[in-house]
Amino acid sequence: MSKMIGILTSGGDSPGLNAAIRGVGKALLGRYCMKVVGFRDGFRGMMENRTQLLDSAALSGILTLGGTILGTSRDKPYAMPIAGKLMDMTDVIVDNYRKHHLNALVCLGGGGTQKNAYHLMKQGLNVITLPKTIDNDVPMTDVSFGYDTALGIATEAVDRLHSTAHSHHRILVLELMGNKAGWLALGAGIAGGADVILIPEIPYDVKKVASAIMRRSHSGQGFSIVAVAEGAISCEVAAKLAVVGKNKDSKKKEQKQQTQVRVADCKPGNSLHLAQQLEELTGLESRLTILGYLQRGGTPSAGDRLLATRLGTACADLINDGKFGVMVAARGDGVKPVALKDVVGKRKTVPLNHDWIESARSVHTCFGD
Ligand code: F6P
Repeated sequence: MSKMIGILTSGGDSPGLNAAIRGVGKALLGRYCMKVVGFRDGFRGMMENRTQLLDSAALSGILTLGGTILGTSRDKPYAMPIAGKLMDMTDVIVDNYRKHHLNALVCLGGGGTQKNAYHLMKQGLNVITLPKTIDNDVPMTDVSFGYDTALGIATEAVDRLHSTAHSHHRILVLELMGNKAGWLALGAGIAGGADVILIPEIPYDVKKVASAIMRRSHSGQGFSIVAVAEGAISCEVAAKLAVVGKNKDSKKKEQKQQTQVRVADCKPGNSLHLAQQLEELTGLESRLTILGYLQRGGTPSAGDRLLATRLGTACADLINDGKFGVMVAARGDGVKPVALKDVVGKRKTVPLNHDWIESARSVHTCFGD
């Protein structure tokens, strides 16, 4: 009897998910004569037993499609919102795995998905994962699919902002995705030649940003482009967050209350405020563009299709070899299975001494530090 493999996509959608589903599915079907069933909308669909047979017809013509043909959700097996409550639905998911006589479950997703997959692995399921995220913050892999496409879109946005910024002698602030990791803003900022790059890893001093812009202005460059990650924070906010971190577990009522107030103060993603501050400090007109979901939508780049296909087909080989409990990571031109336990609970942020940061500083990019 053919082996049956389940597959699901979970977390925010990313370009390259369909290329990965196709890579896993075609290799399992064609090379190893296995069957593949997809679960709709991530772990939610697996819990509700909503399936879609992935035969060769279903896997055909999806390589270039954005989004995910399976749908996705951010639901976790152990904390699923049901009738207004968070319920642990792990047992139901494990039951459905058994009902379908699955030999393995492939989970495609970012950091949260790796954690959920690891949780199911600990329940005894044969789990294998692929790294997907436009944020590029999954650890233990050189890169995740989705990043290259988002990088291209974000870079094009920086390029396009140049001509309008130049014409109006304005500061144009571009907010890019990346709540905890700045890879996207850093990569697009460098590739597009942004004058200022602000990322969560380097808290910024708005006065230093304003000074850098004024230096440009005095040297005859009447415009500046600021690429800011949605999670970038000022030095003041970073200091407040440090206090919040300290007080979080405090038993003293007063300190707890202080923490709540400060959490509200420190909500990141406040690029509008940044644009206003820069206008006030420099006297130059300033405008904000939030690129938002355009960064995740549409057809995957050639690089992401290639990466997703490489990882997907390698995943099928590992399933055939009976190697589970791993994430299929990209390493150079090859792939490497890495233990899920080494992936979960970590995030790949930009190291402060990373080559990209050094390169950007060498071409006079300001990081606000
Ligand atoms: O994780 C990818 C990402 O696009 C982040 O950059 C962003 O902060 C987040 O997802 C937005 O998630 P959602 O679409 O669920 O609001």
